[in-house]
Amino acid sequence: MILRLLCTVGLGLIFLAMTQAAGVKKSAFGKTKAGEPVDLYVLTNANGMEVAITNYGGRVVSLKVPDRTGKFADVVLGFDNFDGYLGNDPYFGALVGRYANRIANGRFTLDGHEYHLAQNDGKNSLHGGLKGFDKRVWRAKDASANGVPAIQLAYLSADGEEGYPGTLTVTVTYTLTAKNELRIDYLATTDKPTVLNLSNHSYFNLAGEGHGDILSHLATIYADRFTPVDATLIPTGELASVAGTPLDFRTETAVGAHINADNEQIELGRGYDHNFVLNRTGGGLYMAARIVEPSSGRVMEVLTTQPGLQFYTGNFLDGTIHGKGGKVYGRRSAFCMETQHFPDSPNKPQFPSVVLNPGRRFTSTTVYRFATSN
Ligand code: GLA
Repeated sequence: MILRLLCTVGLGLIFLAMTQAAGVKKSAFGKTKAGEPVDLYVLTNANGMEVAITNYGGRVVSLKVPDRTGKFADVVLGFDNFDGYLGNDPYFGALVGRYANRIANGRFTLDGHEYHLAQNDGKNSLHGGLKGFDKRVWRAKDASANGVPAIQLAYLSADGEEGYPGTLTVTVTYTLTAKNELRIDYLATTDKPTVLNLSNHSYFNLAGEGHGDILSHLATIYADRFTPVDATLIPTGELASVAGTPLDFRTETAVGAHINADNEQIELGRGYDHNFVLNRTGGGLYMAARIVEPSSGRVMEVLTTQPGLQFYTGNFLDGTIHGKGGKVYGRRSAFCMETQHFPDSPNKPQFPSVVLNPGRRFTSTTVYRFATSN
């Protein structure tokens, strides 16, 4: 009788421990140079998958995902300590905005007014300027529902901030679902016509961060076309077919197979640094890409409502950054799959519009879904 009672209590405790594992834990992460406190939120799902996000730049700091044997590894580049993000940091894990990627010559015209942005990438403007969304402190709150861990980040961008018109209210919700998906929901409104392009700049290595280069990852990108670039990585405006080029990932191909090909676009990108025009399959979320790391069996699928995907193979990483555990992040030691509108859309009327008007809501969703293969 007593034994039975003990067993029931024991099982109950185990069950409780399992169900209680899912949740959000908040801790202090550091202080900005201006003395603003910054926190770290660790979201854990019922399968033990874990993502740590800071409200500084809405950055994904770590993402622990199981391999085919159930062994977890952190698959994103970053720093152990907050101060790392204040130094030499190429947007590790960051929310990028107001305009992800480049705007040519740091200039665009909207409703007859010319707007001037910081030229922080040669003559172009990159990822929202000198102090983009990646360097702002966001307001954060636990947004978990029905036992599914989530946090909501909010930021109010003042009219004229970094040269962009309109007061922009942005919320981004990160959810870690029971299906091992990191889901990102973006919402924005404005009080004046403006332009907007929001993305997440996580650097992935599915073998685990710091585990060599990503050239043996096998990628599929569901795109028949891409936007070719000029020497400053601004799109020429053309939508070119990937057929017969090193950018053809319509069937699974090793990232390294053609990364050094004798091809003008590969030379200009120093590898892959291109926006793919995703093949839409109706409305809502659709598959943008799938990438497999053969030795661990980790698989990541990218689903999005956005029209483009920047596939960037960490060509600018050069070994000068020492990340988590002091690991050296060398060239091509990670890849980014940034869902987005096309670069330089404000100056390319033929591209899908990035204009947001007052009274309208910008919404978009991207899902990074993790699984394993044999
Ligand atoms: C984006 C760009 C790259 C590079 C990185 C940041 O992915 O497309 O060219 O600027 O950001 O280093």
